[in-house]
Order: sequence, then C-alpha cells, then structure tokens
Amino acid sequence: MSLKEEITRRKTFAIISHPDAGKTTLTEKFLLFGGAIQTAGAVKSNKITKTAASDFMDIERQRGISVATSVMGFEYKNMLINLLDTPGHRDFAEDTYRTLTAVDSVILVVDSVKGVEAQTERLMEVCRMRDTPVIIFVNKMDLEGRDPFDILDELEEKLSINVRPFSWPISKGYSFKGVYNLFEKSLNLFDANKTKIADNDIKITDLNDPQLDELVGEDADQLREDVELIEGVYEPLDNNEYLSGNLAPVFFGSAMNNFGVRELLDTFVQLAPFPQGRSTNVRVVEPTEEKFTGFIFKIHANIDPKHRDRIAFLRVCSGTFERNKFFNHVRLQKKVKFANPATFMARAKNVVDEAFPGDVVGLYDTGTFKIGDTLTEGEQMQFQGIPSFSPEIFKELINKDPMKSKQLEKGIQQLTDEGVAQLFIREIGSRKIVGTVGELQFEVIQYRLEHEYGAKCEFVPKNYFKACWITSDNEEKLDEFKRIKSLEIVQDKDNNDVYLAPSQFLLDMERNNFPEIEFHFTSEFKTAEA
Ligand code: G4P
Repeated sequence: MSLKEEITRRKTFAIISHPDAGKTTLTEKFLLFGGAIQTAGAVKSNKITKTAASDFMDIERQRGISVATSVMGFEYKNMLINLLDTPGHRDFAEDTYRTLTAVDSVILVVDSVKGVEAQTERLMEVCRMRDTPVIIFVNKMDLEGRDPFDILDELEEKLSINVRPFSWPISKGYSFKGVYNLFEKSLNLFDANKTKIADNDIKITDLNDPQLDELVGEDADQLREDVELIEGVYEPLDNNEYLSGNLAPVFFGSAMNNFGVRELLDTFVQLAPFPQGRSTNVRVVEPTEEKFTGFIFKIHANIDPKHRDRIAFLRVCSGTFERNKFFNHVRLQKKVKFANPATFMARAKNVVDEAFPGDVVGLYDTGTFKIGDTLTEGEQMQFQGIPSFSPEIFKELINKDPMKSKQLEKGIQQLTDEGVAQLFIREIGSRKIVGTVGELQFEVIQYRLEHEYGAKCEFVPKNYFKACWITSDNEEKLDEFKRIKSLEIVQDKDNNDVYLAPSQFLLDMERNNFPEIEFHFTSEFKTAEA
C-alpha cells in the first residue's frame, strides 16, 4: 500500500468531556462497534473520584504502563481509527491539552442535563488554538435534560462555535422516543432495554408520512415543527467550515443505552479529517512527505519502583516510522533507534515494524525524551503547537532531607519532563516553584519523589495568579522589567523568562507600566491572551 493510501485510511482523534458527561461510556461503545472489545465494562475508567494521591496511585498501578490504555486502535468501515485516551480527572487537564496536540479531530461529549460545563469550555479553547474540527455528542437524552434548542444556543454562545444539528431528539427523559437523522432522513427509535447493537433505522423521507404518527404518536407534530425550524434557522452543513473548526455537527443520544452512537460513528468516519499537515518552527510538514517526522506528546512512567521504565508516545507526522532505523533526536542532536516500538490494535499490543502518519507509537524510554521533542531523518526543526499553559496553583518545593538533594533534583527534573507539573526556577537563591492545574499533582509528586527517588520534600503555597511568558522587541525595557521584578521572574524548562504575576490587578498595572512588554499565558504565543 502506498504512503498516501495508508494516510487516507487513518483517523486519529480523542473524545473529550467534562468529567461524568459520558466519555468512558462512549469510548466503550465505539470499541464495541469496532470489534476491539467484546463486552461492555471492558474499558477501565481512568476517573478518580476523590482528590487523593493514594486513589490516583492505585488506578495508575492497575492501569500499569501500557500503550493499551493510552491509544485504542480499531477498524471500522475499512478505516483505521486511533482513539487517544485523555485523563478523566480535572487536575490532569494539562495532560489532556497535550494529547489534543496529537489528534486531527475531536468528539466533545456534553451532558444534556448539565449543558456546557467549565471543563468543556476550557477544552474547547485548546481545540481552537489549532482549529481542531469538533463533532458534539449531546449525551444522556434518556434523562430529563434541557430543551435541545436551548442546548444548541448554549453551545454556540459558550463555546463560540457555530453548530448544525445532524440528528434531532424526539422528546426527552421518560418520554424519549428516539432521534430523527436529518441527513439520512431516517428514524431511529429508542428502546431503553436494547442490549445488542442493532441496525433498526426506519426511512422516513417525508415527515408528512402518516407512518411517523403511528411510530411516535403525538410527538410527530412536534418533530415536524422542530425540523422546519431547524431547516429555517441553521445553515446546511459546509464540510469546509467543519474542517476549519468553525462549525460543529451535533448529535443527540444516550451512550449508556448505545443510542445514537452508530450515527455518530458513521458520520465521524465520513467527515473527520485524515492526518493533516503540521507546523514546525521552519515550515509546515505534510503527511505525504517521504521522510519520517514525528513528535513526543506524552510520557507515561511506570510508578512501580521495581520497574522504572517509561513509554514516550510519538505521533507520526510524515513518512514512515521504521523499527531499528536511526532517526535524529533534534533537541539532543543525537541518533536514536528503537528495537521494540509498540502500537495497539484491536486488543493486542504489538511490536510494530512500520507506522504511518496519524499513528501513535509507544517508545521505551530511559530518560532521553521530554514532551515536545521532535524526531526527523536529519532535518533541523521543531514541531510547534505543544505549548505549556499557565498553571493555576503554585508552590515552592522545599527539600526536607539535605543528604538527598541530588535525588530530589533528578526526581523533580524527570517528573516535570514527563509533564506531571511545570517547574520554574528562580535564579536568585535557585528556588524551585512547581506549578500545576490541581492539588492532586502535588501529592503525586511528593509520593513519587519519596517512593521512586528516595527524596523527601514539602510544598509551601505561593500566592501567584498566573505564569506569564514575557517577550518584547525592546531588549532594554525587558531587562529593566526583569531587574525590577527579579523576585517574581523565573525560568521555565526551556529557559524562557516567565513573570509570576501575584494578581490580575498587579498584572494589569505592569501592563500599563510596561506597554512594550507582552505577557502571554502560554509558552507559544498564538492565542489565550490575558
Ligand atoms: P466520563 O468518562 O465522562 O467521566 O463519564 P462516564 O462514561 O464514566 O459516565 C458517567 C456516568 O454517567 C456513569 O454513571 C455512566 O453510567 C452515566 N452515563 C453515561 N451515559 C449515560 C446516558 O446516556 N444516560 C444516563 N442516564 N447515564 C449515562 P455512574 O453512576 O457514575 O457510573 P456507573 O456505575 O453507571 O458506571
């Protein structure tokens, strides 16, 4: 098969949602359709309900270190689908953001009762940074949720994206009868006791067909009215608008009841983009280029101290990845090759000889990789779009055992390379400030430093509001600012200057005082400004 043929049969995506909206349930249903699992309940939830490190550790230990839990590959309608897993816990949001850099599209799950939630909005902002195409699944239609038109309005308003319903619910909650597919013009009736995957769509090309009244009774007129309104209000689907991330097709259903899931998957397979070109610091790399390129978007460590191995996850961007072939590790300027690269297709973890654009390969790593590292066949370039985001909680790391400072140093470096948290170093006094999205990471770091590196630490909370990456065309002004604010200036992992703003008020004040300086909330400065 030619490289082009390999590319056009691949779709790499992630399912994202606010915790509890139904991501795990939907993932499982997709895998059932793809034949990758045989029974319901096979997909382990990666959700942690309590904010406790011990919970997290238990779950991590059970999940082990495997590609299987991170990439789920399956075949559907002759397509190879790579579904990338994202963490279920809010505190690990940054891990999700990074995974989103490795996909070509996403399916966003929204709870019909709760509507758009905080995490939904943030995830959508990250999608927007790379204009990632989004399909929305409004889940839990079997519950007394909100009015579907209100949900559509809320999606447009809060997520700043145009929407286009693809299917339409017939009533909801206890009286939920099913969905009408607006494009295939077919009716899929709901049976709450349905346990097997059945294809029971009923074609109704004309909504005035009396068969509709027979099938859904008094809800038929409401459906006719709704559909008329939809056709009048919403533009017909323009595929390019979807592909450029401006318009999201919307489906309604119930993942738990396997309802509306097949329509969603069928449309996804039809519409979702193939592996796309990606920007580097020098040029855009097209997937069809003969030479291999790829980048590391995730590092997963085995937290069992007896087996301290790590897997680095590589997204192939162009050409063919080959086992045992030397590639160029751009940051280290080093030749590297891999004897046992792994992928995961239909339940089995395999050593792969070759991988193609869109694929994710697990590479056994002994500490050579950092998140964001690029591999090529020699070209000097760095993939972009894997930014660090400003953390929300900041704490100073204090060594509790002076005899173990080397271990602590090494441990915190490796943990932050893995992306567990961000490490900022303040030159003065060489202080270490750790930044995270949630409290849980601090417990995890403390636990892992102790158990894996034998180092003891404590964290002292710091009252910072945001980490701002600072840049300016005016070197003098930048130096002046850094001098005046020296106590709040730190360096990130790549030695970039970062200002830790104590509050929104003080940040605004500095902006006024130093109009020549730009303050960015991410380490790559495309969007998400303060
Ligand atoms: P998440 O990964 O997004 O966090 O959500 P998950 O799939 O774990 O679903 C969260 C809860 O919502 C689960 O219930 C799940 O069964 C339920 N759920 C998912 N889809 C639907 C649906 O279409 N309708 C209804 N009514 N519920 C749905 P739980 O009680 O937390 O767990 P479980 O014991 O049922 O597994």
